[in-house]
Amino acid sequence: EIYGGLNGFWDYGPMGAELKRNLRDTWWQTMTRDRDDVVGLDASIIMHPTVWTASGHVDTFSDPMSTCKHCKKLVRSDQWWAMMAEQNWTQSIAELIEPGTNRFQPAVLLKWGKGKGKQLAPNLALVRNPDVTISWVAEEIEKGRGPADATELYKFLATEQMAITGLVTPCPHCGGELTAPRPFNLMFRSHYGPVESEDNICYLRPETAQAIFVQFKNVLDSSRVKVPFGIAQIGKAFRNEITPRNYTFRSREFEQMELEFFIRPDDAVRLIHGQVEKWREGADLSATSPAWGWEMWHRYWVDQRTKYYDSVGLGTDVLDYHWQKPEELAHYARATVDILFKFPFGTEELEGIAARGDFDLSQHQKFSGKQLEVFDEELKAAVDKLSDEQKKEFIDKLFEDRKCADTTREESAAYADKLFKGFYLPHVIEPSAGLDRMALAVLAAAFDEETVTDEKGKAETRTVLRLHPRIAPVKCAIFPLLKNRPELVAKAREVEASLRRHMNIFYDEAGAIGRRYRRQDEIG
Ligand code: GAP
Repeated sequence: EIYGGLNGFWDYGPMGAELKRNLRDTWWQTMTRDRDDVVGLDASIIMHPTVWTASGHVDTFSDPMSTCKHCKKLVRSDQWWAMMAEQNWTQSIAELIEPGTNRFQPAVLLKWGKGKGKQLAPNLALVRNPDVTISWVAEEIEKGRGPADATELYKFLATEQMAITGLVTPCPHCGGELTAPRPFNLMFRSHYGPVESEDNICYLRPETAQAIFVQFKNVLDSSRVKVPFGIAQIGKAFRNEITPRNYTFRSREFEQMELEFFIRPDDAVRLIHGQVEKWREGADLSATSPAWGWEMWHRYWVDQRTKYYDSVGLGTDVLDYHWQKPEELAHYARATVDILFKFPFGTEELEGIAARGDFDLSQHQKFSGKQLEVFDEELKAAVDKLSDEQKKEFIDKLFEDRKCADTTREESAAYADKLFKGFYLPHVIEPSAGLDRMALAVLAAAFDEETVTDEKGKAETRTVLRLHPRIAPVKCAIFPLLKNRPELVAKAREVEASLRRHMNIFYDEAGAIGRRYRRQDEIG
C-alpha cells in the first residue's frame, strides 16, 4: 500500500490472518480428518510444465480480452456489459434516452457529446466528432437500421466511420474503440534456473487440482486407501485475471481448497453390483453405498458441502445453486453445480462441484506414458464369475451406451477387456472452493449494524461482526473488572494462562469495561 498497491493482490491483517486460518482449518478438519476416506497433499506451486500442457491449461486456459486503441486499458470481453453498466458515462447517456427503449432526441445527444461527454467519455466517437456521428446514426434510424436495443446504441455512438470500421465496441473506461477479442492465457509464466529460454519455462499453478492428479498413483501406492477415496489440498493458486474486481472475490493470487474424490466408473460398479444406483429426487445421501454411480456421488458432495457451509455460519438462506446447462459445461465435465453466495455486489460463485469423469487422469496417462490405472480386486473377482455370454452382453451394452461419444466397437471391447482384468482409470468428483472468496462471504454474512443508546442517552449506530464461533479470530476475551485490584488481575492472568494454549484469546485491562466489550463485538 505504501507504494500504491497492486491490483488483484491482497494482504490480511492480524484479525484477517486468524479468520482465514480458522476457515482453512475447518475445511481441512471436515474434508480430511473427520473422514477415513480422504487423505491430504501439499504439493509445490511450480510443477513440471508438461502438467499444464496435459491438463489443457497451456492451450485453453484463457479469457477473451480486448484492448482500447485509445487509453490502452484491457477489458475482459465477457465482462464488457457488466463494466459498461457501472460507468458514469453510460449512466449519463441512459438518462437521455426514453426509459426501456433506444429512442432519443438527436439534439440532446449532440449537446451531451459537445459538453458533459468531454469529461466522462473523451474518446467516444460522439464526443470526438459529434456532428458526423449523430448524423449517420440518425440516418440509419430513419432507414430502419438503427440500434436494435439500448446496448447496441452505445456501439452506434462509439462508431465514427461505419463503412471503414464496422460497428465499434466502446471502451467502458473512455469510450474509445476496443479491439476484437483475442484469447489471453491467464497463467503466470516464469523460468526456472539462471537462463531464460523456451526450454525452462514454468508456470505458477492456476489451480491446486492438477498436483492431486499427477500424485494420484504415489498417494494410492503409499497410503492405505482404495477407490472410492479422495485427496485434498489447500494452497495458493495464481491467475493473471484481466479485470480483478470486488475486493478478494476475483484476485490474481488466491488460495484454493480442493478435493478430488476418485470413484469407480459406472461400468465397473455395474460389473460388481449388477446395477448402478442413479440419482432420483429424494434419494438418501446420509450414508454412501458401494452401488452408487457418479450422479449419486456428485449429489452427495453437494450435500456435504452445503452442510459444511452451514457449520461456518453460511446457511441456505445466503446460498444458492446453479446447475450448469449442457452448453455451459467445460469439455471434460459431465455435470457441474456452482454453490453461490448472495454477496452485496450480486449472487456469485463460491465453489464449483464438477463431475470430471476420467479426463484428467487419462490426459496425464497419455502425456506421461505412465500407467495410472488402478487394479480393483473386487472387480476382478466379480468378472471371474461371469460367463462368456454375460461378458459379450456387457460389451454390447457398453458399445450402445458409448456410441454417441463416437466410440468404435473395438475401442469399447478394449476398454471392457481392461475392466475384465480388474483395471480402470477412476472417475472424479471435484468440490473446489476458494478460501479468499469464502472469507469475503463470511465477512459479508456476519456484517451487521445495530443502534444502541449510550449511558448519556445518545443513540449510535455500531458495527458488529456476527461471526460463527468456529471462525471468529478471537475466541475469548479476559477483562479484570478493575486493574488496580491485584487479586482480580492475578485471577484474570491465571485464567488467561490456562486458556492461551487452547485458543486465540485477548487480554485487556485498559479502559471502561463497556468499551472493552465493545471492541470485541466489533471484531466478532
Ligand atoms: N479445479 C477447478 C477449478 O479451479 P474454478 O471454478 O476455476 O475451478 C474454483 O475455481 C474456485 O476457486 C472458485 O469457485 C473460486 O472460489 C476460487 N477462485 C477461482 N478464481 C479465483 C480468483 N481469481 N480469485 C479468487 N478466487 C478464485
